[in-house]
Amino acid sequence: MSSLIILGGSSAQALAFRVAKGLGANYLRVETRRFPDGEKYARIHGDVNGKTVVFIQSMYHRPDEYLMEYFLIVDTLKDLGAKKVIGVIPYFAYARQDQRFNPGEILSLKTVFKLLKDVGTDELYVIDIHRHRMGDELIRLIGLPTHNLTAMPLLAKYAKEQFKLEDPIVIGPDEEAEQWACIAAKTIDAEYDYLVKKRLGDREVEITPKSLNVKGRDVLIVDDIVSTGGTMVKAIEVVLREGAKRVVTACTHPILVENALVKILEAGAEALIGTDTVPSPVSFVSVTPVIVDALRKFVE
Ligand code: R5P
Repeated sequence: MSSLIILGGSSAQALAFRVAKGLGANYLRVETRRFPDGEKYARIHGDVNGKTVVFIQSMYHRPDEYLMEYFLIVDTLKDLGAKKVIGVIPYFAYARQDQRFNPGEILSLKTVFKLLKDVGTDELYVIDIHRHRMGDELIRLIGLPTHNLTAMPLLAKYAKEQFKLEDPIVIGPDEEAEQWACIAAKTIDAEYDYLVKKRLGDREVEITPKSLNVKGRDVLIVDDIVSTGGTMVKAIEVVLREGAKRVVTACTHPILVENALVKILEAGAEALIGTDTVPSPVSFVSVTPVIVDALRKFVE
């Protein structure tokens, strides 16, 4: 058994347990509860003194709560003598506001990165982070070594095998999703393309019509996040209008608010496939192997 220690916050305990098993590392239980006034209590059950510790906490649905828990626990790990703390945040919230779009707006990504570092994170792993505009210079500036892992190869393989996609084309619903379409397509040896999206509001998007090579073909649409489903629905409509034979959709982070899954199926997709960065009814693919592979170097 390695001396590496793995802990999971209340958003990612099952995932942390699976990662510990995959690495042959020690899993320590973290107890969390609330005081009657709503304040968070947490307790680490085990000794971390002098150890390299991995703390896994995802940030879906209640990002403020999970982030606060992260700060409290990582600070405590350092107080208790942990030699190195590696944070794993499979779904990283607060990455949308990575630019001041209007004067006076918050720059959440920068603030959160600063706090993650200040509290004691020595190295950070995220998965398919929604960070488009603010580049690596921010991370360098803040000085928190960060690794962006991807679940796209696992999603693409799963979609192709389970849905027996024949000569599929992979589509990204917007320009930012081109990177994910490219990775997914390479994995299954397919072509890829992407659409052009304009965001009209938090819930509304417009996708510019574009001629695509999808007529009579199986299409896999991939994105990082499905939140309200608005983006996916518009993309499904475009590819079906262009004559696609079958449409399967996949995303790393199935946030799924406001009936997103039903909207996607009603729009004509056969399925939505997601991962367990966000536990959901479509989390068919686990990111455990992605995290295990990245952390193997810490196992002595
Ligand atoms: C945006 O650029 C992201 O990559 C996703 O397309 C977006 O977060 C999906 O949100 P929704 O499901 O609400 O359209």
